[in-house]
Amino acid sequence: MNHFLDIHKTDAADLRAMIDQAGAMKRARLGRPKAAPDDEQPLKDRMVALIFEKPSTRTRVSFDVGVRQMGGQTMVLSGNDMQLGHGETIADTARVLSRYVDMIMIRTFDETVLTEMAEYADVPVINGLTDRSHPCQIMADVLTFEEHRGPIAGKKVVWTGDGNNVCSSFLHAAGQFGFDLTFTGPAQFDPEEEYMGFARQKGSKIVIERDAIKAVEGADLVVADTWVSMHDAQSAKERRHNLLRPYQVNAELMRHAKPDALFMHCLPAHREEEATSEVMDGPNSVIFDEAENRLHAQKAIMRWCLGA
Ligand code: CP
Ligand code: NVA
Repeated sequence: MNHFLDIHKTDAADLRAMIDQAGAMKRARLGRPKAAPDDEQPLKDRMVALIFEKPSTRTRVSFDVGVRQMGGQTMVLSGNDMQLGHGETIADTARVLSRYVDMIMIRTFDETVLTEMAEYADVPVINGLTDRSHPCQIMADVLTFEEHRGPIAGKKVVWTGDGNNVCSSFLHAAGQFGFDLTFTGPAQFDPEEEYMGFARQKGSKIVIERDAIKAVEGADLVVADTWVSMHDAQSAKERRHNLLRPYQVNAELMRHAKPDALFMHCLPAHREEEATSEVMDGPNSVIFDEAENRLHAQKAIMRWCLGA
């Protein structure tokens, strides 16, 4: 059994195999109704707990549908409604859940909740987003890029705005899949040094460029995310908006990237803030493919976790 905690903690060859399997599984069920079972049922008789301590649309629905397509069952739990949210330790929760379910996906705040859950669970634990990372999203994004443009290795990705949890997982992926990443945003929101270091040590070119127009020159992919994440204080909203406004992805900025540069956003988006609708709904945007690919990427991740 394997935990899927973070992209930099997972073997690069295994990550590659998951992306390839996700693509194959997606193609195999093309055109089928959403609830039609896959030909293979690797999660038959398996029960999966999906725990949310933060809101979710994509993660919640894509995991639920993915488990069912592979023959398993799910229970969606809100952290608040569990004893976990009222003082029961993470370790005890992990040990108890392991007696009922075959796999746990958790979306939480502090990443120590995730790592402690993994330490004490006897079943695989999957990271469905923490304050520091969002690996399932970036697995879907790598799949999406490669469907449209072929291998991501050697490509230039530009992250705009806040060097947040999603940016961190992009840096992990840069190291593991061999692409370069330029961050453009205010110094207050630079990505984590440790994660830039990880990608550099793996041979990726990681650059910080404060000028957004210079940053996107030669970009194969431009990425935006919300300016205020779920873990950020709402009171900081105005300050963050003021600092991040120069990094909005709009048609003018995209004109400085490669003509075929893709645009990605993990969603949910705040239209006309971090990116304009003109870009989000434009011909180079693949935002809804990314959302769809959460389903396919996570199915491969779950199979890897269970060795199924
Ligand atoms: N991208 C993403 O994780 O979306 P949700 O917050 O809706 O799950
Ligand atoms: N950075 C965002 C991503 C949401 C999927 C957040 O953490 O709120």
